[in-house]
Amino acid sequence: MSAEDVVELAKRRGFFLQAAGAYGGVSGFYTFGPQGAALKQNVEDSWRDRFTIREGNMEVDAPTVMPEPVFEASGHLDGFDDMLVECPECGESHRADHIVEDNTDIEEAESMPIADVEEVIAEYELVCPTCGTGLAGQAIEDFNLMFETNIGPGSSQPGYLRPETAQGIFVEFPQLAEYARNQLPFGVTQIGRAYRNEISPRKSLLRVREFTQAELELFIDPEEDEPDLESVADVTAPFYPATEQEAEDGEPFEATIGEVVEEGVVGKPWVAYYLGVAKQWYESIGVDMDRFRFRQHLGGELAHYAADCWDAEAEVDGDWIELGGFAYRSDYDLGKHHDHSDEEFTIFKQYDEPVTVERPTVDPDMSVLGPEFGGAASDVGDALEELAERNPDAFREAQRASEGASGDEPRAGEDGTVTVEVDGESYDVSVDAANFAVEEVTESGEHVLPHVVEPSLGIDRALYTVLDHSYRTDEVDGEERTYLDLPAEVAPTTVGVFPLMDRDGLGERAREVAEELREAGLSVTYDDSGAIGRRYRRQDEVGTPFCVTVDYTTIGEARDDDEGEPGTVTVRERDATAQTRVPVEDLAETLVALRDGELSFEDV
Ligand code: GAP
Repeated sequence: MSAEDVVELAKRRGFFLQAAGAYGGVSGFYTFGPQGAALKQNVEDSWRDRFTIREGNMEVDAPTVMPEPVFEASGHLDGFDDMLVECPECGESHRADHIVEDNTDIEEAESMPIADVEEVIAEYELVCPTCGTGLAGQAIEDFNLMFETNIGPGSSQPGYLRPETAQGIFVEFPQLAEYARNQLPFGVTQIGRAYRNEISPRKSLLRVREFTQAELELFIDPEEDEPDLESVADVTAPFYPATEQEAEDGEPFEATIGEVVEEGVVGKPWVAYYLGVAKQWYESIGVDMDRFRFRQHLGGELAHYAADCWDAEAEVDGDWIELGGFAYRSDYDLGKHHDHSDEEFTIFKQYDEPVTVERPTVDPDMSVLGPEFGGAASDVGDALEELAERNPDAFREAQRASEGASGDEPRAGEDGTVTVEVDGESYDVSVDAANFAVEEVTESGEHVLPHVVEPSLGIDRALYTVLDHSYRTDEVDGEERTYLDLPAEVAPTTVGVFPLMDRDGLGERAREVAEELREAGLSVTYDDSGAIGRRYRRQDEVGTPFCVTVDYTTIGEARDDDEGEPGTVTVRERDATAQTRVPVEDLAETLVALRDGELSFEDV
C-alpha cells in the first residue's frame, strides 16, 4: 500500500480532497468530505473527552485573527521562520532544510544555521526538486510563516491568522485565571484552525496551510504542582532522546513512563505525564503502536518558546512524521504578554505564613528633580524607584557619603549621589532628593508567573496517520477487498443498514430499523443500491465496523428454516466478515455495546 492508495481512497470515498479543484486547486488546502468530516469530528470528540473532560480542564474558542501586538509579544513576528531557497531557473520556492534532509543523511536540517545549510547545498551539489537546476550559491532567506491581513478598511491595523491556537489562550490568561479562582494548576484547551503559509506544502494532509490543532495549555506552579504520574507509570512506548539521536549507534528504546521519569530521560514529569496520556489516546484512535515513538527535540530544533520538547511521531510511508509536540514552555509566554500588555499575567501565591521583609522605597522630591532635569524629571523618578528595588546598596553608600561617614575624598558613587540612566543618558541625583528609606512590611504572598506545559496535537496529521495505518487488503469470496480497520469509536459510520433487496416490504422495514438505531445515538447509513456484496465493500472501504441486513426472516417470511428466528437481522463484522443473527428488539443495545467496546462480536 502506498500514499497514492490512501489519497485515492480518500478522494473516491469522501474523506478529503484538494480544495477548490474546479479552479485548479490550491496547494495546502483540503476539504473534508462526508466521511472525513465525520472521522475528524469523532477524533476531536475523543480528544476532547480525554484531554478536556477527563483531565478536568476548561475549553475555550478564540478568534483565528489576532492583532499584530499579540504576535510581537509571542515572538512569532520575529522568530516563526522557515528557510526559503528560490530556484534561479524556474523560480519555484522550496524549504532548504527539506532539500537537505531528502538528499543527504542529515535528519534535522531545520536546527542548522542558514550558513551551514547553504554550505551543505553547495557541497552535495543539491538541485531544485522541480526543474533540477543546481542550487549552490543561492542565498537562503528566513521566511515568516504567518498569513498577514488587515483588520478593517485600510492598513492601519495589521492582523495575522493565528499560527497556533495557543496564543488565543495565553492572551486571555488574566480572565481565565479568574475563572479558575486563581488556583494553580489549571488547564485550558482549544480545538481550532491554525494557519501557516508553508513554503512547500506536501504529502497531502501532513503539511498544509490550514489545519486543526488540539492544544492544552496547563498552567502550573513549578515549585509545587506535580502530575498524577502513577496513573500512567506503566504505559510503555519507544523513546528516542536527544542523546541517542546524537550518538553514532543511538537507537530508540522501549521504556515505561515511570522509568523515563526515574532515569531522567524525560526531565519534566509533567511532560512525561502527557506523553503517557497521549500514547493511550493515539492507540485508542487507531495509530499503529508498532509505528509510533516519542522523540526529543535536539537543542537547535527547539521552538523559540520551548525549554524542552518531545514529539509524538508516527511512521507514514517510510518517514517519521510529527503528530504532536509536548513542550515545557516555562514562563516564556505569560512573561512576554505580561511585559507587552497592560495587564498582569501573574497569580497571587499565598505563603503558608505571612513573612516580614524589608522593602526599599524612594519618594523623589520633584521640586528638586524638576528644575534640575526638566522634561526628564519624571523618568528619572521612575528610574530611581527601579534602582531602589534592584540595588538598594547604591542608596545606602550614597547616604553614608552624604552623612560624611568617610572623611576622605569621596570615591565614585560615594559622593552623596546615585546615578541612573534614562534613554542612554546618565543622571546624578542627590540621595537626599531621592528620599530613600527601607520599610518593614508584612507580606501574605507574592505574584508569580505560572509555567506552561503544552501538549499540542495536530488533528489532520492524526487523521491521515489513522487512515494510513488502518488501510488493509485481503481476499473475500475470491475477490480482493480493501477495508479500513478503524476503531468503532472513530469510524465515520458505525452501522450500515441494508435491505436484502428493496421489495416485498424489506426496504420499509430496513428504513425503520435504521431510524431506530439512529434514535439510539448510533451513526447509521442506509444503502439499498446494487448487490449486497457491493454494499458490504463500500462500507468496508470507509471502515464501518458493522452492517445489518434485513431479510425475509426479519419480516417473518423466511423461505427456508435455516435462515434463523423470525424477527432477527444479520449483523456482520467488518474485519473477519463473520455474521450472526440478532433479534431486532436487542439490536440497538447490542450495537451500542459493540461500539463502546463493552461487548466483543464473538460474545454476541
Ligand atoms: N503551540 C505549539 C505548536 O503549534 P507545533 O509543533 O508547531 O507546535 C503542533 O504544532 C502540531 O500541529 C504539530 O505536531 C502538527 O501535528 C500540527 N501542524 C503543525 N504544522 C502543520 C502543518 N503545516 N500541516 C499540518 N499539521 C501541522
